[in-house]
Amino acid sequence: MTSHADPPPIRRLGLLTSGGDCPGLNVAIRAVVRRATLGHGVEVIGIEDAVAGLVERRTYPLSSTTFDLGGFEPMLSTGGSILGSLNRDIGDVEEEMDAGYRAAGIDALIAIGGDGSLGILHEHARRRGWRLVGIPKTIDNDVAFTDRSIGFDSAVNTVVHAMGQLRTTGVSHDRVMVLETMGRHAGHLALHAGIAGGADVILVPEIPYTLDGLLETIERTREARGHLFALVVVAEGAADSSGQLVTASDRDGRARLGGIGALLAEQIEAGAGGRIEARATVLGHLQRGGPPSPLDALLATALGVHAVDLAMAGRFDTMAAWRGGRLETVPLLDVVRVGSNPVDPASQLVETARAMGIYLGDPDAVLASTRTTGTT
Ligand code: F6P
Repeated sequence: MTSHADPPPIRRLGLLTSGGDCPGLNVAIRAVVRRATLGHGVEVIGIEDAVAGLVERRTYPLSSTTFDLGGFEPMLSTGGSILGSLNRDIGDVEEEMDAGYRAAGIDALIAIGGDGSLGILHEHARRRGWRLVGIPKTIDNDVAFTDRSIGFDSAVNTVVHAMGQLRTTGVSHDRVMVLETMGRHAGHLALHAGIAGGADVILVPEIPYTLDGLLETIERTREARGHLFALVVVAEGAADSSGQLVTASDRDGRARLGGIGALLAEQIEAGAGGRIEARATVLGHLQRGGPPSPLDALLATALGVHAVDLAMAGRFDTMAAWRGGRLETVPLLDVVRVGSNPVDPASQLVETARAMGIYLGDPDAVLASTRTTGTT
């Protein structure tokens, strides 16, 4: 029997995707809807463009049978998010947002987002009494308390594929090929892809590099190979020991990371006194598109199911996480308090890269100060 003190039962779950998109979001949406509607018999209300959809009342019921499309299951292989997403500030609209939440008749909210979005939603939920469960996604893989976020593995695959393409043209023309990856202030994407794709140099935000160290590695690689070719993978947030980030301003005047690849290529050519030709490639949003890798599809399905089960069990203000090869439940407050999860310069992967002779910056250099740009 329901007493006055009991919280209202869950009949309707709200679902949104927030922050930069990535492969695997639609797989997570599919899993949430299937588990909620078929497993628990509750309705799922899709919210378009994250919290903007609450403000503007753009919400609609999601159905498993619609997704299935007679067995074709396009959700499994379509990148992006059918719900749309939002990775910019829309101002102080909490009142309107809350009104939209109530109008949609949502009993609890499942939010698929990065550390920035989950932090913001956690704060709204705390102030407005929303019941919230988070699912981590970001190609940056920097959400704390989860080993993997949806989208990361697919982006690693994209970068490794690009490295293979750059390798053949670089070898044919005796050039240094510089590949700039995304990742914001975390180097997980560059590090994982760099090792998997056989980079000679990997530069990440967490470990400052020196131009001398970089040029020495290129020379050493040339001697070992008998001809000039080197593959440099640089994360967009990497910096030399000055800590100076390479950025451009967006239309709102906010600094946006990008351009370090071209700068490095110029510096390599200048530093080698014209003896070396270097070319830069910026992978950009290619890393956020395309179908999810099987590992991301698996992760998105497992996290989606787990998040629904957490909501139905009344375990709110939590995040469904993947740690040590299994599903776990983490308090959202812990995730928010820790904030972004950077590469540990003393990690086994960094050691592995160094053991492979990859130049990864100066091991004794001090970690550059933490900087932020935008919402993941
Ligand atoms: O956080 C995901 C991410 O792709 C970062 O790696 C990148 O710096 C940023 O988003 C790009 O954002 P936008 O799509 O707004 O250019």
